[in-house]
Order: sequence, then C-alpha cells, then structure tokens
Amino acid sequence: MLALHEVTAGYGGTTVLRGVDFQVGDGEIVALLGPNGAGKTTLLRTATGFVKARSGRIELNGEDLTKSAPHNFVRRGVCHLPEGRGIFPSLTVQENLTIQARSRDRSESVAEATELFPVLGSRLRQTAGSLSGGEQQMLALSRAYLTHPKLVLVDEASLGLAPLVVDKIYEVLRRLVERGMSLVVVEQYVQRVLELANTVYILSRGEIIHVGKAGEIGTDEIYEKYLGIET
Ligand SMILES: Nc1ncnc2c1ncn2[C@@H]1O[C@H](COP(=O)(O)OP(=O)(O)OP(=O)(O)O)[C@@H](O)[C@H]1O
Ligand SMILES: [Mg+2]
Repeated sequence: MLALHEVTAGYGGTTVLRGVDFQVGDGEIVALLGPNGAGKTTLLRTATGFVKARSGRIELNGEDLTKSAPHNFVRRGVCHLPEGRGIFPSLTVQENLTIQARSRDRSESVAEATELFPVLGSRLRQTAGSLSGGEQQMLALSRAYLTHPKLVLVDEASLGLAPLVVDKIYEVLRRLVERGMSLVVVEQYVQRVLELANTVYILSRGEIIHVGKAGEIGTDEIYEKYLGIET
C-alpha cells in the first residue's frame, strides 16, 4: 500500500535518506531497524509528508503523494505515532481520546480506549502530560486505534518503558494487526519486533542495507552485521 522509490531527503544542507526503496503491503508488518542516527525517524516523517522528499517518489495505493502534506496521508488512513508519543500534554486523557471523534461517538471512543487499556479509565480527568511514560504511550496507541487507520507507523513505542508495559504495548500492536492494519515498527528491542514482523528493513547512514523476511534473520546477525554491537 505504501511505497517509497529512490527517495532522498534531509534537513537544510544535510542529506539523511539516500535513494531509499521501502514498501509496505496490505496487512504487512515491517520492522525498520538501524543504529541511532541512521535515519529511521526521518524515513517515517518522509513517508507521511512531514519531511519533503528531495527526489524519488512516494505512493500510497498507487497514488502519487510525493509532494503532499501530512493531512493528505491522514485522510487516506495513515497514522504516524511519532517519537515522543504525539499526545497533547496539556489536555486531559478524556480530551485526548475524544478530540478526533464526532460528538455522538465520544463516549464510545472513551469506552473503546479504556477497554484496551483499563488504566486509562481511572485517569480520564488527569492531564496527559502528568501520566507516566507507559501510560502516555498507551494513550498514544489508543488514539491510533480509535481512528481506524489502514497503516500505522510507530516510532520507538517502547523507549524507556518497563518490560511489562512493553508487553502490553505489543499486545495492542497485535490487535491492530488482527484488525487488518499494516504496521511499520521502529524499535530498539530487536528480538521483540522480530517476533511480530513479517519483513525486516535495516537502514544504515540513510541507506537500506538489508531487506528480507523476519524469519530469515536472527537477532545476533542483525546486531553483529549491521549495528556493530557485539553480542
Ligand atoms: N530537524 C532536523 N534538522 C537537522 N538534522 C536532523 C533533524 N532531525 C534529524 N536530523 C539528523 O538526521 C540524522 C538522522 O536522524 P533520525 O532521527 O532520522 O535518526 P534515527 O535513525 O531515528 O535515530 P534514533 O535511533 O537515535 O532515533 C541524524 O544525523 C540527525 O542528527
Ligand atoms: Mg529516531
């Protein structure tokens, strides 16, 4: 459904992505891995219109969106969960959950989110910024879930979270998949994302240096060959 062809992008005088080919099919779960500074976040931002491609092409279901603004991606069912959660810290949990809903759907949105993450139910009147990191990530994921997107791009959802909270986050990512959504997951916990993903892309210094089936590459191989970390 999403395809980047030979995409180059960057900031000011810096080129970050160099000729990136990247594809996500219907219902596919793609793990996007690579060392810090490789350009993973930039790739997600470019794939959703926040950073403009300097050359190459970005297509969504065959439609050329290379020069399109983020809202054009959103309108076509693409949901980007950015690094650092992407919630509204000064609004309450309830407001965060209902901000996108039509008025008659508001109580339904809250019910759906609290069914997914019961802990949010007891925090509806608290400002989102005062939630714990794990709770904030649950709120961010709930917002994605409620908009019924077709493709969700998740940037480091488990960063800084306790293992049990990460389990919960992954459980919800699986639910998104069961609902037929496609996923792109940027993740530091390689092992966890390999269990979920169908396809692995590895980015290094702005170039894709590996594409393959998740079952055909091991964690050690990823670390040793591509991330330069001894295991
Ligand atoms: N707004 C910006 N302006 C200028 N340079 C930027 C900007 N954002 C990122 N960069 C640079 O682009 C390069 C790629 O950054 P990016 O955030 O895409 O990497 P990443 O793979 O997501 O890294 P991490 O694993 O640390 O999140 C880095 O060298 C970074 O310093
Ligand atoms: Mg990043």
